[in-house]
Amino acid sequence: MPAAPKPDILAAFEAAKGFMPTDEGLALYGAAVEAGRLGLPLLEVGTYCGRSTVLLADAARQAGVTALTVDHHRGSEEQQPGWDYHDPETVDPEIGLMDTLPAFRRTLHRAGLEEHVVALVGRSPQIAALWNSPLGLVFVDGGHTDEHAGADYEGWAPHVAEGGLLVIHDVFPEPLDEFTGQAPYRVYLRALESGDFTETSVTGSLRVLRRTRATAAGRR
Ligand SMILES: C[S@@+](CC[C@H](N)C(=O)[O-])C[C@H]1O[C@@H](n2cnc3c(N)ncnc32)[C@H](O)[C@@H]1O
Repeated sequence: MPAAPKPDILAAFEAAKGFMPTDEGLALYGAAVEAGRLGLPLLEVGTYCGRSTVLLADAARQAGVTALTVDHHRGSEEQQPGWDYHDPETVDPEIGLMDTLPAFRRTLHRAGLEEHVVALVGRSPQIAALWNSPLGLVFVDGGHTDEHAGADYEGWAPHVAEGGLLVIHDVFPEPLDEFTGQAPYRVYLRALESGDFTETSVTGSLRVLRRTRATAAGRR
């Protein structure tokens, strides 16, 4: 049985703004607890308002490791004004641009998990280019275009240690609508075709893959 979050953590996840359904959150949590046993940091790409971060942070707390979360906090294409996934409350009225950092900080504070998380604010490929140590888990939930999802895979998946987990969100083998593209699905196929990962679970659009062969970047 995968580990399940305590009721207060689940409540904090469900209270946070975001797009992840509870069944997928539970699968992410189980993967994060399992990956935490490697004693390495857990990293997500795509913080938004911290919904999934709550789960990674609680798993990191239990394992005595740090959760890292990467986002420029300006929103993805489909979250911009005029698009279906836009939330006007995420716009900073002073500058007229999205800024999800304040909501993210409130989410973590309310969940009592601030000290277990390091927020990396910036563009994912720019941060990945500076990154130089192995990770127990990489959760890819950033930009959903081929450019962004592909860069996240190329920048972060090599750092997953042997036995660590690569978790990909919004994997849709069939296109759902014009907003849910298939870039995450193509990344998922690339990971499997690399021969370096095997699938361990499928929950809704969430896929959990285990690294069976380390790259140089993933070695301790
Ligand atoms: C789908 S949301 C993440 C949802 C979040 N994981 C949750 O559970 O609610 C995607 C996030 O990725 C961020 N993002 C998109 N492209 C990015 C990039 N190239 N670098 C950093 N962040 C990016 C957006 O700002 C947005 O907050």
